[in-house]
Amino acid sequence: MFIVFPDTDHVAQYVSTLFIQRISQQPDVILGLATGGTMEPIYAQWVKQALARNIDVSQVSTFNLDEYVGLPAQHPQSYAAYMEHHLLRHLAFDRSRIHIPDGLAHDLPAYCQAYSDTIRDHGGIAMQLLGVGSNGHIGFNEPGTPFDSQCHVVELSERTRIDNSRFFGPNEIVPASAITMGMRDIMDAHEIILVATGSSKAATIAKYYEHEVSPLVPFTILKQHPKAHIILDAAAAALVPSNVCQFYDTVPAAML
Ligand code: GLP
Repeated sequence: MFIVFPDTDHVAQYVSTLFIQRISQQPDVILGLATGGTMEPIYAQWVKQALARNIDVSQVSTFNLDEYVGLPAQHPQSYAAYMEHHLLRHLAFDRSRIHIPDGLAHDLPAYCQAYSDTIRDHGGIAMQLLGVGSNGHIGFNEPGTPFDSQCHVVELSERTRIDNSRFFGPNEIVPASAITMGMRDIMDAHEIILVATGSSKAATIAKYYEHEVSPLVPFTILKQHPKAHIILDAAAAALVPSNVCQFYDTVPAAML
């Protein structure tokens, strides 16, 4: 079942509420976080709600999914800068609990292994936020990535580099590779919230519905997860039959 809201505002309100509630239930929760255009309204709502409800985030630990290789954290297009801009600087996080892969790490294989190990040492991710690339990638796990992969360095596909070039200036080059949590790291999360919005994601969501579980469409792996939820706006749900959608006009009152 896809959970479908009329528009991105409702999706953002719903998803941010899920995360705020999770933090309220367990202040030292371990969260997996994502970047991308889809997440911008979600983080904006998250910040708004956390401030309005005086939510204490000081004990929350976070692990980001991915980062471009070669970009320093200060680079405006790095995912570290993205997180700073959209979430971290607005709330009183304890920075020692914030984990974002280091795009400048020297020994990348050792660094990646340590990133996966650190997630496990923390007891695993309780709630993982995910977007999806137009080719079905999650994190930066491109089509063909083995399902048992841990954190690793990936060569980005042409499709992904073109998709993500919209965030870079006209004379800037999208990095060719990235560090990403592996498929296994993601699937080990206790609960997964995948979000897709806008008509540009409709064909991608249709692939999830039509395809068997396959590494060629990475996010189909979520069909094997006991607690994975796919949250869409109406535009992203446009190409799947309505009998596999649960429609909400508004965020259920019980959640607010
Ligand atoms: C990037 C990120 C993914 C994200 C995807 C979709 O490639 N590595 O984690 O899900 O973009 O991004 P957007 O939300 O901008 O469509």
